[in-house]
Amino acid sequence: MNLDMFSLDGKVAMVTGSSKGLGRAAAMALARAGADIAVCGRNPDDIDAAVAEIRKQGHEAAGFAFDVTRKEGVDQGVAEILARFGRVDILFNNAGTNYRVPVLEYPEAEWDRILATNLKAYYLVAQAVVPQMIERGYGKVINMSSILGHVGLQNQLAYASSKGGVEQMTKVMALEWAKAGVRVNAIAPTYFETEMVKQIRHDRERFDFINERTPMGRWGKLEEIEGIVIFLAAPASDFITGQSILIDGGWTAW
Ligand SMILES: NC(=O)c1ccc[n+]([C@@H]2O[C@H](COP(=O)([O-])OP(=O)(O)OC[C@H]3O[C@@H](n4cnc5c(N)ncnc54)[C@H](OP(=O)(O)O)[C@@H]3O)[C@@H](O)[C@H]2O)c1
Repeated sequence: MNLDMFSLDGKVAMVTGSSKGLGRAAAMALARAGADIAVCGRNPDDIDAAVAEIRKQGHEAAGFAFDVTRKEGVDQGVAEILARFGRVDILFNNAGTNYRVPVLEYPEAEWDRILATNLKAYYLVAQAVVPQMIERGYGKVINMSSILGHVGLQNQLAYASSKGGVEQMTKVMALEWAKAGVRVNAIAPTYFETEMVKQIRHDRERFDFINERTPMGRWGKLEEIEGIVIFLAAPASDFITGQSILIDGGWTAW
């Protein structure tokens, strides 16, 4: 077997929400596999820190601050990335957020914010990035889903709805772009320790529930996202499209 099929040498990867958390871990991994990285987020200090960390390890990266929920900002941000790197071969739609209360208390403004960030933004970014992939006849799109795109959980109205949408969006994009050489897959993690879930991490009852509910008995570690992201970005997965890969310690095997 030729391990070059896992190499991303000469590729450019754009990762939304890579200033922190899972996106940052994924960006570091894609860089180590050989790709130049467009680090995206909103907070410039976090973006600069992520870019510096990638460069410190000897890889190329540049930062781009824009709000993924605004079409104008997305188009401008992607234009800047294309001007800087000349191309985007790998798009990881990862930026996301959450708000947890019961259905009957769910504020409309939070519903709109979660759906805009976790779902609408993924198609806005893809619309801006994918045409130049189609022109070259090759590209990889990875959409960040969640176990909550597959199963339900209390207090997760907008989040689970958005991730269910990501699962379906992934299939539609995969079908539309299959013959153009653009592969589209989703990854669906369980709980990983990031800022987005730190509130739950410090809630003993919920922390214990997650451990007990997970066959492997624990949360994911940030580095456990790396292998699947590299695989889906690399030529090794070229005949895989329209799929969702769960990284969940067995949660959904029940
Ligand atoms: N952590 C988990 O347990 C878990 C499990 C399953 C799936 N996920 C998914 O993984 C993805 C990343 O989550 P995470 O836990 O790593 O979250 P995180 O640590 O809170 O990071 C979120 C990232 O998204 C960016 N972002 C949020 N809203 C944005 C917006 N409107 N425009 C541009 N960037 C925006 C943030 O940048 P700024 O801070 O600068 O806005 C940050 O870089 C999400 O899609 C989440 O649903 C997470």
